[in-house]
Amino acid sequence: MFKFLNEKKMERVKTTIVTSWRLLGLLWSIDKWLLLGNMAAVSVPAVVPLLIGYIFKLLIDQVVLITSGKPADNHLIILIVVAGFSTYVLQSLAFSAQDYLVRLIYTKVPVSLYNMILLKVSSLDMAYFEDSEFKSTLEKARDSYTFRPLNMMDNLLFTFQGLIQMIASLAVLASLNLFLILLVILVAVPEFLNRARQSQLAWGIWDANSPFRKKFWYVSWLLQERDAIKEMKLFALPHHFLAELKGLHEKFYQDNKKLATKYFGINTLFNLLEGFAFIGILIYIIFETIAKRLTIGDISYYTSAATNFQNAIGGLFRNVVKLFEGSLYIGSIFEVLDAQPKIKQIANPVRLNLKGPPFIGFKNVTFSYPGTKIKVLKNFDLTIKPGEKIALVGENGSGKTTIIKLLCRFYDVLEGEILINGKNIKDLDLNEWYKAVGVLFQDFVKYEYSAKQNIFFGKVYEKMSLGKIIEAAISSGADPMIRKLEKGYEQMLGRTFEGGVELSVGQWQKLALARGFFRNAPILILDEPTAAIDAKAEAEIFNRVERLSKDKTVIIISHRFSTVRNADKIYVIEKGKIIESGSHEQLIDLNGQYATLFKLQAKGYR
Ligand SMILES: Nc1ncnc2c1ncn2[C@@H]1O[C@H](COP(=O)(O)OP(=O)(O)OP(=O)(O)O)[C@@H](O)[C@H]1O
Ligand SMILES: [Mg+2]
Repeated sequence: MFKFLNEKKMERVKTTIVTSWRLLGLLWSIDKWLLLGNMAAVSVPAVVPLLIGYIFKLLIDQVVLITSGKPADNHLIILIVVAGFSTYVLQSLAFSAQDYLVRLIYTKVPVSLYNMILLKVSSLDMAYFEDSEFKSTLEKARDSYTFRPLNMMDNLLFTFQGLIQMIASLAVLASLNLFLILLVILVAVPEFLNRARQSQLAWGIWDANSPFRKKFWYVSWLLQERDAIKEMKLFALPHHFLAELKGLHEKFYQDNKKLATKYFGINTLFNLLEGFAFIGILIYIIFETIAKRLTIGDISYYTSAATNFQNAIGGLFRNVVKLFEGSLYIGSIFEVLDAQPKIKQIANPVRLNLKGPPFIGFKNVTFSYPGTKIKVLKNFDLTIKPGEKIALVGENGSGKTTIIKLLCRFYDVLEGEILINGKNIKDLDLNEWYKAVGVLFQDFVKYEYSAKQNIFFGKVYEKMSLGKIIEAAISSGADPMIRKLEKGYEQMLGRTFEGGVELSVGQWQKLALARGFFRNAPILILDEPTAAIDAKAEAEIFNRVERLSKDKTVIIISHRFSTVRNADKIYVIEKGKIIESGSHEQLIDLNGQYATLFKLQAKGYR
């Protein structure tokens, strides 16, 4: 029935031990005195029942003496009463201390842990966030970081308590008869294994249903996401999704039910076995008492030791099984904490000391996104001279944004190299390199902060200067719009926080553009900077971009020919390759792809 010692199970046992140990280490590092205090506090209730049992035995034996007409030991009786009283006081103190310490731990641990996770996550690179396995690990960690570590800490503490209680009661029983230990172990060990197995199976369901959970969270998120609600309402999607969830839920429920049913019988059997062992011990004690080898008080004492042992074992079972379970959940927290950035900086990176824009060169670059086979860029070459204004055009999915992401070293190339002033981008000090680059991404962020802060976030490592913020806003065309807001630059934006004002898509984009300008980096990259901005504002913005960025390199990606036509050089990208390049006039003369598309767009306006 049980096949316990196979490799996978041993692995689980190892995981539990390792995770428990690491969790203790974590708690120790967060606050060792809290941990030690808690351990001390839980040890007291572990031995108090036995102490009380012994005190009662002494008391009963005295009562028996008195009732049988023999003289009692008055000193002893006083001692017993004092000892009993002290024990209760000790117990109450321990309970209160535990309440107190647990409250402290419960507020301290989750916050510390959450900070550790956020710090780690923010240090990881893009590839992690696109890796579905890591995403689900992160999901699990996020699901569990608050209460699971605390639950597991409780389980560890109570396991510790159970162990002390078990050893103490075993010692008492062993003093009666060594064979009793054997009997007890004979019952306890198989039951423990049985429970452990059940917890593994339950986890199996959880784990196997990880896609279920993923779907569940995704759909839940979708159903509550403001930006999704409009479309979903109109398309009557909520019912459709809810029905899908219901189906998944039903399967989850049925699988769990099957498991619970399967173990119903086995669990009953083990419970009975445990009961029989207990009764066996009781019968033994009674016989020993009748044979006058034990006193009447001993009946109470040893019975309480047996009960205590039973309680200890029960508690231990529950807690160790929960440790098993908990470690599987918490494992994902440690997995996240252990994750190492895939894009590593070399030990002694090159510092470029960039004041002005550098030479940028893509040399024979081939690239696929991690976990995919399609080559988004194939033997791609591109040279950008300092101060050049270039534009990238091309169909959706041709690889334009990918070029920018590689230039930001969010990913490493598969083949070839990217050179900055002749140095491989992999050898650069990344933080320094980032300071040289200002990017407005296609999917820019709408920070629900004040308008001022939205722009300031472009360069937080310098002192905030309202003058420069306004300058950037004027350049991006955001200034008039901000001034019209009730609180101007101090206006809170978005609808998450009280008093926040929602902007239109184009207004947000102007703000994001201002952030890019405010960064004032030698390289300015704009990926579809004006997609949501009206034509008049666009023309104004680009007049200013030209004036502003005389000594900067500018890379613009756009589907609008009005945006790109003023660039020094336009590159037409198709399937990850440059198929045409030159100035607007040269490309029109070439009468190729660019000219065709330009005429098509121009025709649309006529
Ligand atoms: N994170 C990603 N993981 C896997 N594949 C991706 C990822 N991002 C983009 N791709 C793929 O790479 C190709 C190029 O995408 P990219 O975003 O560079 O196109 P683009 O030229 O910027 O298109 P658009 O004009 O629509 O912005 C596409 O085929 C896309 O499917
Ligand atoms: Mg793009």
